Amino acid sequence: MSAATGRAPDLRELMDDPDVDLDRLERTYAHFRVVNAVLAGWRSLYRREIRPLLDRHRTTTLLDVGSGGGDVTRRLAGWARADGLSLQVTGVDPDPRAHDWAERAGEEPGVSFEQTDTTALVRHGRRFDVVVSNHLLHHLRDEEVLALLADSTRLAGSLVLHNDLERSTPARLAWGVLALPAARRSLLRHDGMVSIRRSFTREELDALVPDGWSVQRRVPSRLVLRHGAGEDVRAR
Ligand SMILES: C[S@@+](CC[C@H](N)C(=O)[O-])C[C@H]1O[C@@H](n2cnc3c(N)ncnc32)[C@H](O)[C@@H]1O
Repeated sequence: MSAATGRAPDLRELMDDPDVDLDRLERTYAHFRVVNAVLAGWRSLYRREIRPLLDRHRTTTLLDVGSGGGDVTRRLAGWARADGLSLQVTGVDPDPRAHDWAERAGEEPGVSFEQTDTTALVRHGRRFDVVVSNHLLHHLRDEEVLALLADSTRLAGSLVLHNDLERSTPARLAWGVLALPAARRSLLRHDGMVSIRRSFTREELDALVPDGWSVQRRVPSRLVLRHGAGEDVRAR
């Protein structure tokens, strides 16, 4: 245990409360768009890990688990489109409020959303070349993380990337200040503080994950859990 206090998976985020004010929740989805663009590091993950798997003529499929407001889902599809590469991205979230918000932003080539979870996708025999998530791991207890990883490797033909926060005292202090302007209008500051306390340290994630998974530390205060290699999808 480190990062000042141990992981606090039992803390609850307001966004998980079915009765939370819908306006504040929807503003939070809108704010995620900005936070993810600035802090989540998907542009470099796309360039380094995903783009090498893509092709102009053969469609690669990608699943975004816990897609929330859908901005990472749409961004990945948009980058591939801009590169002239064929990528079909499916964002899934079990929360009907997230699903509605993501769909309401409108249709876009290469993007679709479903209100479901990985257990149901596995049960229905669904397969994707690549499986990703952003800011999902900290929502889960250890045994749920292990179930997600098992589902991810069943669903993914080639590559899995779970990208999340890393718990640290500096991250918590910095978020407390950075998110102050959004504190009243959205859940961003409150849930961000709780999310950091619920998230893993690198050592905790290293100790938890089964063989075949690697944990990469990235700036600022992020961990990327990775499984698989890019070669398989090109061979299929
Ligand atoms: C912090 S939000 C992140 C949303 C989005 N990925 C982003 O980065 O903006 C976490 C999302 O995960 C979803 N979620 C929670 N538990 C889940 C599970 N077991 N499977 C899939 N999604 C889940 C929640 O409904 C929520 O929309």
